[in-house]
Amino acid sequence: MIDQLTIERILDAANIVDVVSEFVTLRRRGVNYVGLCPFHNEKTPSFYVSPSKGICKCFSCGKGGNVIHFLMEHEQLSYYDAAAWLADKYGISYNKREMTESERLLQNERESLFVVNQFSRDFFVNSLRNTPQGVAVGLAYFHRRGFRDDIIEKFQLGYAPDEPDALAHYALKKGYAKDNLVKTGVCYEKDDGSLRDRFRGRVIFPVHSISGKIVAFGGRVMKTDAKTAKYVNSPESSIYSKSRELYGLYFAKQAIVRKDRCFLVEGYADVISMFQSGVENVVASSGTSLTPGQIRLIHRFTNNITVLYDGDKAGIKASIRGIDMLLAEGMNVKVLLLPDGEDPDSFAQSHNAAAFQEYIETHQVDFIRFKINLLMADAADDPISRSALIKDITKSISVIQDQIVKSVYIKECSQLLKVDERLLIADVNRQQRERYNSRTEEQEQIQNKEQYEPEETPEDNGSVSANEDLPINQVTEEPSEEEKLRQEIRDLKKQDFGPIMNKERLLTQMIVRYGNRTICMIDSEDGPIAITVGRFIIQSLDNDGIDFRHPVYKIFIQLFREHSDEPGFDTVRFFISHPDRFISLTAASLMEERYQLSGLFKSGKSEDDESHLFDLTTHLMADYQMEVIRYEIKNIEKQMQDTSVIESTDGMKEIQIRYQALLKARNALAKRLGERVINL
Ligand code: CTP
Ligand code: MN
Repeated sequence: MIDQLTIERILDAANIVDVVSEFVTLRRRGVNYVGLCPFHNEKTPSFYVSPSKGICKCFSCGKGGNVIHFLMEHEQLSYYDAAAWLADKYGISYNKREMTESERLLQNERESLFVVNQFSRDFFVNSLRNTPQGVAVGLAYFHRRGFRDDIIEKFQLGYAPDEPDALAHYALKKGYAKDNLVKTGVCYEKDDGSLRDRFRGRVIFPVHSISGKIVAFGGRVMKTDAKTAKYVNSPESSIYSKSRELYGLYFAKQAIVRKDRCFLVEGYADVISMFQSGVENVVASSGTSLTPGQIRLIHRFTNNITVLYDGDKAGIKASIRGIDMLLAEGMNVKVLLLPDGEDPDSFAQSHNAAAFQEYIETHQVDFIRFKINLLMADAADDPISRSALIKDITKSISVIQDQIVKSVYIKECSQLLKVDERLLIADVNRQQRERYNSRTEEQEQIQNKEQYEPEETPEDNGSVSANEDLPINQVTEEPSEEEKLRQEIRDLKKQDFGPIMNKERLLTQMIVRYGNRTICMIDSEDGPIAITVGRFIIQSLDNDGIDFRHPVYKIFIQLFREHSDEPGFDTVRFFISHPDRFISLTAASLMEERYQLSGLFKSGKSEDDESHLFDLTTHLMADYQMEVIRYEIKNIEKQMQDTSVIESTDGMKEIQIRYQALLKARNALAKRLGERVINL
């Protein structure tokens, strides 16, 4: 738990571009930055980050907020854990007070599982380095494989002792809940209720999330023995879904951005050896075929990917199908075939960085070309396999979205295969159409099921459906609090409150920007007291007995009432860093619209000049009151046309009196407003 003052210091220190860049590659666009939205599936960037406002927002799915909201959403953290994450990143110290029992209960399961995994990681690392068995068996194994100590440390490699329950025993002694040990999968429960370690007598590769938290472990046996499985992995859990993680991404992401390219390999050892030899932009799919979710993770950082294949060609044809997905996601794909008998691990171990780099430069080839060559070798002159080959290639080409890239490939393909270009174009179009049709059907089925799970359907990667970028929560969830507020605002506008709410916006803007600035002094029994912009507005509202209509601006007024007397209260900071996303986003946009206030007067004075502030505030207040009166008058005029009211003389009289009073008030206000404008 962190106190509010520290939170504000954290927010001051945090640079939102910096933080979001840990998860997405951002490119500068004017004063803002844009990137692919990390919260929904998209191929063209609609995620905006504004460093001046300190906020980010996806213009397609609407997710975003300040830097804390971003982390909460992306990392599934609580407000305070997100703040703590930032404090750690920026080296801001804070008091970690003990959680109360109820807070402990509230801490969600995911957070507890991360804590257990972190504890287990430390246990494995410690056994590797500081126990005789770990050093003699585990560390010796890594050294034998040629892993350097700095790399072993960086990847947090560890060792699980060859005992039935070493970790379970230690963790229970340290007070970790049995339930969580089982849920993360580091232990499992036997029939008699006792715990056993999942990883025993194995070296350990922790799997990190994109932000560096441990989501799983892979454990490798050290002897080659057909009876025991080479790798044992953590089971799927609420923090681990194998198809959504890429091994090594946490360590590779910066190099991926720097090099604007990602190398894709199969296994743990491949990643580590390549990293050690100096090729740091490398990740592994961990033995499974690539999923769209994994591709999107890479796509956040780069458009360019090179897939590495072992020298033996057996596996290539099977895995090559997965590459169409990369094309469909808009990636530029190259393929690198290693010499016969080598895998990335062995190749990196026997070549230094320069030699590896050189090999990459000279051997990586464009995927479509690679595929044509590979298939041509088999098809030879057999017409039937040739036509199958052509279909296969045109299918790959048809998923590409960029029309220019597509036509370049078609040309090239026509030359290589000696087929008329027009035939190829026709075939590409046909494949595209077929996929479109089957996709729209599928989309309907999915929507009927009220579920949208794009990650699990690797085959449906057509590029043409307009529906595929639908944000997940639009299809499934019931309206959020935010959506309810938006609806309420729309309803109010329909009831003609629009003009009033516009004036409320201007007053709220004054409160956010200058709420605690003094505009005049008044005498009271206790001596002179300072009237601030905010006080003036609130006092005026109270005098007239009116309240804002707009549900969000209403909250601003309420918050100002409650907090403005607190020492060190700073309106801008307070509203922009408010935990409620809607409040902080609104505050940020109120900060931005400079023109709205200064445009009201052409006085030549700076907007926050004190005497000018007084004029601005009183003028805006009068303007607002005018709008309220106008609304009332219109309302009354409507009532007066209502025959049922006219029939009752009493009712009519009452209305007439009210009407006259309103007209009088309007004229007085108009005079004041007119005078003020002339005076300025
Ligand atoms: N893998 C796995 N579970 C298995 C087998 C494989 O998770 N039972 C994953 C691991 O990430 C492994 C990758 O698939 O690194 C590739 O498997 P394999 O080629 O069998 O292993 P290598 O990476 O070559 O492992 P090593 O070099 O340690 O023999
Ligand atoms: Mn290997």
